Amino acid sequence: KYPPTIEILGEYHPTDEVTNITPAIISKIPLRLHKHPAHPLCTLRSLIESHYPDFSSITPPSPLVTPFKNFDELSFPKDHPGRTVTDSYYINKDLMLRTHTSAHEVEVFRDQQTKWLLTADVYRRDEIDGSHYPVFHQMEGARLFDANLSGMKEVEEDSERLEQRLLRSNIIIQDIPHISPTNPVQPEHDPVYAEAMTRNLKLSLNSLILKLFGAQQQQEPLRVRWIEAYFPFTSPSFEVEVFFGGKWLELLGCGVVVQSTLDASGVQNKIGWAFGLGLERIAMVLYSIPDIRLFWSADPRFMSQFKPGEITPFKTYSKYPSCFKDVSFWTAHGTELHENDFCDLVRDVAGDLVEDVKRIDRFVHPKTQRTSLCYRINYRSMDRSLSNEEANVVQQQVISRLQNDFGVEIR
Ligand code: PHE
Repeated sequence: KYPPTIEILGEYHPTDEVTNITPAIISKIPLRLHKHPAHPLCTLRSLIESHYPDFSSITPPSPLVTPFKNFDELSFPKDHPGRTVTDSYYINKDLMLRTHTSAHEVEVFRDQQTKWLLTADVYRRDEIDGSHYPVFHQMEGARLFDANLSGMKEVEEDSERLEQRLLRSNIIIQDIPHISPTNPVQPEHDPVYAEAMTRNLKLSLNSLILKLFGAQQQQEPLRVRWIEAYFPFTSPSFEVEVFFGGKWLELLGCGVVVQSTLDASGVQNKIGWAFGLGLERIAMVLYSIPDIRLFWSADPRFMSQFKPGEITPFKTYSKYPSCFKDVSFWTAHGTELHENDFCDLVRDVAGDLVEDVKRIDRFVHPKTQRTSLCYRINYRSMDRSLSNEEANVVQQQVISRLQNDFGVEIR
């Protein structure tokens, strides 16, 4: 299926038995939407950067990282599901596409940075629908303090300043304890220091969220809620949600940086916090962008609506009709077909003509033990009317690839 080497950003890399990156994905790597001045993702990045004026802004040039950097250095267990070829894109067993911006934490800390924001494209294999795309953008933020009394003085002063501002604003925060038995302080940390970090993290993010969402929602108070979470590289850890457009919207993950990450970076005398947020999800609600594929659209009706630095509501141009096609098949004897493999195949053949993929049936034949699957693919172009004939051609290509690549038997 794969040539012996593949070219990415002008360099050739060997393939091997775990290679699963597809041409559709490779074609996205050079695009770097977060660097296009009028693009909503870039404007949102600048807005967040302006909230942290003394933080350095980093945009690493390549998404290629070692699994060591993406996972091991951040204390992911060996059996973490994120490492599997069904969840992540591998060029070969030693090289992958970063699945999160946290992959750069150690290198940035090692560079002696103590206040930084890092924006990058990240890659995850996933289902296909209006809010999931295998490439999206994250922003990582971190702040370190000296793990001593003068560091504590610095953090307390900063927290006081943030708290005073928040007390004067129209925001309701559903908080949880900084530390709890299920969300513990790290054994390496003095609980007083860990509490001070968590308080500063919460205040910093609450004020960022107020800046992003507060202006849009002036009459009612802005509601933010903090939820206990788990990440291998932070403890305590949290997720934060905001009530916006009648729904709780998941915004970000964050926590107190695991000390072994800082040790690995050669800054063992520091303590600090980090957060990671997904830009698309936030941009979709702030700009009223209804489909995640639009961020990648070359249609002038998309980009012409935006000006650098301004968040204005997106006016949807008419939706073209959708075209549903079903495919039912038996998987090859003794095999399953992972939904993410099916979705990548469809994405590879149909590109952004595919809006949604749903599995509508699965059963195992009682005698032969073979698995039967049926998927419904919704084809719809975002910039023109797709004819039924055209959709049939694409569907036929999907079917041939299923037969050739996975040995399925069409029913
Ligand atoms: N990297 C995490 C994710 O992608 C988010 C995160 C970043 C959590 C930093 C904690 C600290 O889900």
